[in-house]
Amino acid sequence: MAKLPKIEFAPLDSAATGVMVILAGEGSAVSSKLPEALRDMVAKAAEIAKFKGKSLSTLDLIAPSGIEAERLLVVGTHAKEPASEEDWLKLGGTVLAKTKGATAVTIRCEMADGAGVSAADVARMASGATLRAYDFDLYKTKKGKKDEDEEDKSADEPATLTFATADVDAAKAVYADEEAIAAGTMLARDLVNEPANTLGPVEFADRIKELSKVGVDVEILGEPELKALKMNALLGVAQGSPRPPRLAIMRWNGAEDNDQPVAFVGKGVVFDTGGISIKPAGSMDEMKGDMGGAAAVTGLMYALAKRSAKVNAIGIVGLVENAVDGNAQRPGDIVTAMSGTTIEVLNTDAEGRLVLADALWYCQDRFKPQFMVNLATLTGAIIVALGNHHAGLFSNNDDLATRLADSGKVTGEKVWRLPLGPEYDKMIEGKFADIKNIGGGRAAGSITAAQFLQRFVNDLPWAHLDVAGTAMGSPANEYNQSWASGFGVRLLDRLVSDHYQSK
Ligand code: BES
Ligand code: MN
Ligand code: ZN
Repeated sequence: MAKLPKIEFAPLDSAATGVMVILAGEGSAVSSKLPEALRDMVAKAAEIAKFKGKSLSTLDLIAPSGIEAERLLVVGTHAKEPASEEDWLKLGGTVLAKTKGATAVTIRCEMADGAGVSAADVARMASGATLRAYDFDLYKTKKGKKDEDEEDKSADEPATLTFATADVDAAKAVYADEEAIAAGTMLARDLVNEPANTLGPVEFADRIKELSKVGVDVEILGEPELKALKMNALLGVAQGSPRPPRLAIMRWNGAEDNDQPVAFVGKGVVFDTGGISIKPAGSMDEMKGDMGGAAAVTGLMYALAKRSAKVNAIGIVGLVENAVDGNAQRPGDIVTAMSGTTIEVLNTDAEGRLVLADALWYCQDRFKPQFMVNLATLTGAIIVALGNHHAGLFSNNDDLATRLADSGKVTGEKVWRLPLGPEYDKMIEGKFADIKNIGGGRAAGSITAAQFLQRFVNDLPWAHLDVAGTAMGSPANEYNQSWASGFGVRLLDRLVSDHYQSK
């Protein structure tokens, strides 16, 4: 894995070696607490370079004499309004990118008006730098080089980023949590980036077992148990693959024993060929990421445990491969889900909902949680509707939906609510069975998929996040350069910390 920076915190006025980073506000102003000679120099350089302190713009200078550092990097913060939480992640990511190759970087956490940066924002900057450094290079035999001609600027040593801040202890304390969340996000990215030949259902379950090291209780159900539970919807999807399915149950008990848990459920199709309703060849490789929902649930459970969140949380993921062989499920097959509902499988490529049907039913049946949120790379139609910048949100509960939308706004993992309703539910009524696994043609494809899931939540408060456009393939940004984004970990961690945690 790529080398992640070492993150440290130090008092505001500690001497900086290597690169010193200072923040600039509107009109390129830098903190009045900095030496006058330095401020003058920055002002002159800014004028020449037409640097205006615009958000995330940078001015790279040789440090003037009298300063221990060799380089001075001026980074624009935000002009007028206070920066959002996501802006701090972006700032940290920008610092990392612009100081590539340096081994020592000190960031002076002080605004242009001399005000300190809050401990939480300092921690977010640090987290943004870490997330930016993430690079899935496991299978590159020449690490760090993008192409043969490019000079290898990456140092042998990972960079040390020192955040110089007024309250070191507070920043350290918040960063301990931020670091856990970033690690969970990178775990989700790793799982999504990993190809399906090395990450089948069994291997995924093995990775989940490792969460026991951070205190998560892990239970893995195999084929005999799934058969005994009558999870025929999930099993039908798995039957065309030589690789057997798994259902993984993760439990983090961070609150009192009698505290009702919250629950997260993920679609974990390690590869989706479409089955007999096979997909076209173009971009089929991307279907190695069809377990992005399960990856987010795994990363979230890791983060909650690692930061000892005071909550009882359940994570359940259905792990299958949707492959095709002589034993594969056929269009027209009818399966009886664990709930007793019969399903006509009209398209074997609408497999995620079949997996989730049993996982959701099992979750509410066994754990009776306060709510269930499921994540799934469920439909191509959600990408048509929302592109890569919002996940689709569907819910039977307005409070839960509002909380998710709010969490999306602060974390930058945005969600957009789409409707559910009896008219759409009607579209999945079956001809030969209770329901069918596709709606009517191309119309409202993401909604009919959500209606299908709703049939298995037993009226519990529930939300479905369709992350087909956001879990992977979104454009690179300041704090993610990887194909897989880890979408959902920060969003749901925030949902928990804002509303479901005992303090
Ligand atoms: N895994 C796909 C959805 C998907 C598409 C995820 C593109 C990420 C990128 C899902 O299993 C699927 O194939 N859905 C079908 C449903 C259709 C058959 C009703 C789709 O979206 O075409
Ligand atoms: Mn499919
Ligand atoms: Zn799929």
